[in-house]
Amino acid sequence: MLPMTTEALASIPVARRVGGFVYAIRNIVVEAKKVEATGRRVRYLNIGDPVAFGFQPPPHLVAAVERAMREGQNVYTPSPGIPAAREAVAADFTSRGVPMTPDRVVLTAGTSEGIELALGALVDAEDEVLVPVPTYPLYTAVCAKIGARAKYYRTDPNRGWLPDPDHIRSLISPKTRALVMIDPNNPTGAVYTAEVRHALLDLADRRNIVLLADEVYGDLAYDGPVPPIAGLNPDAPVISFSSLSKAYLAPGWRAGWLAVGTSPRLDAVLAAILKLADGRLCSNGPMQHAITAALTGDRSHQVALRAALRERAVLTSARLNAIEGISCVAPAAAFYAMPRVALPPGKTDEDYVLGLLRARGVLCVYGSGFGLPAADGFLRIVFLAAPAELAAIYDEMAEFTREFLAR
Ligand SMILES: Cc1ncc(COP(=O)(O)O)c(C=O)c1O
Repeated sequence: MLPMTTEALASIPVARRVGGFVYAIRNIVVEAKKVEATGRRVRYLNIGDPVAFGFQPPPHLVAAVERAMREGQNVYTPSPGIPAAREAVAADFTSRGVPMTPDRVVLTAGTSEGIELALGALVDAEDEVLVPVPTYPLYTAVCAKIGARAKYYRTDPNRGWLPDPDHIRSLISPKTRALVMIDPNNPTGAVYTAEVRHALLDLADRRNIVLLADEVYGDLAYDGPVPPIAGLNPDAPVISFSSLSKAYLAPGWRAGWLAVGTSPRLDAVLAAILKLADGRLCSNGPMQHAITAALTGDRSHQVALRAALRERAVLTSARLNAIEGISCVAPAAAFYAMPRVALPPGKTDEDYVLGLLRARGVLCVYGSGFGLPAADGFLRIVFLAAPAELAAIYDEMAEFTREFLAR
């Protein structure tokens, strides 16, 4: 037996880089749990999970997973994924104007793993990655893990949250390895104009920087699907990411893909991604069969989904803009809005969000969790709840905002 010691042992230190790995969307839940412990109900408007609000994946996707499990498809798959699903992804890109071959497609555990694989394959410590602000925080978190530098480029609420290509150009240095574009956008709900899309792609192409195109909301623009950006110039260096999480309503399956553009400039990057993918064996096997079903089968659920989201978006921007002290750009896609509260001097976005949580049991995420200055007063709302519930929540927000700004 090992000798017992009564002395307290020192706590085991963790890696320094974890300090930079910040993911406010989940971190803030700790505060919500404290509020729940006092007996108050909390409405969670922090995570973009449609299933948590009653949406369900199409039945033929569930059937495909069930069939795969019953028919013994519980094995490790080839590390880039099963051929049928890789073919389905490639055919889907091709049908949307991006020539793609299955050997350049990798199936991943959600868009998230695709992002990690691509950044891992491309970026060394000290390299720079251009990331929009406000951003989806996984990009900065993964950069922190790698030791790379995320350099923010602004998107402007006064111009519908569009980025400014000239500003992005001014941030490029010899160390810049990738330009992240999230279109349609989380957290702002923006859909970029054709002009901006052309300019970003052109910039990446001319400067030989990889455009990391996060297209997970591509099918959820209210006016209809946004085609993948690589279609504007198939020779540009683009890696595109998407998944079943949002447009196919199956976030917990962790079923996604990345597609590496056909430019030979990207061949070494593809080889590096495949090498890294070997190390994690494969993405979730049975769910890969749902990718085939999703991309080759009926997608009519998306019509109803887009209509449901548009209704909630219209309600959200109308109700928030009616509150004195709040302004909100109307979202054009997905299920997020990024309103701004005109904060009194000395107050932060976190003061407002935590105040709203504690006083009214409504949980949003402060804009500083997406890289915005805390004094700017932005917050992100996920508007997936039923319209009647949203209306009740916005009543609460109106009352709370009046009290908060009167203090
Ligand atoms: C812009 C963006 N990228 C990636 C992800 C991660 O998605 P997935 O579930 O496919 O990993 C999300 C999830 O909210 C997102 O909003």
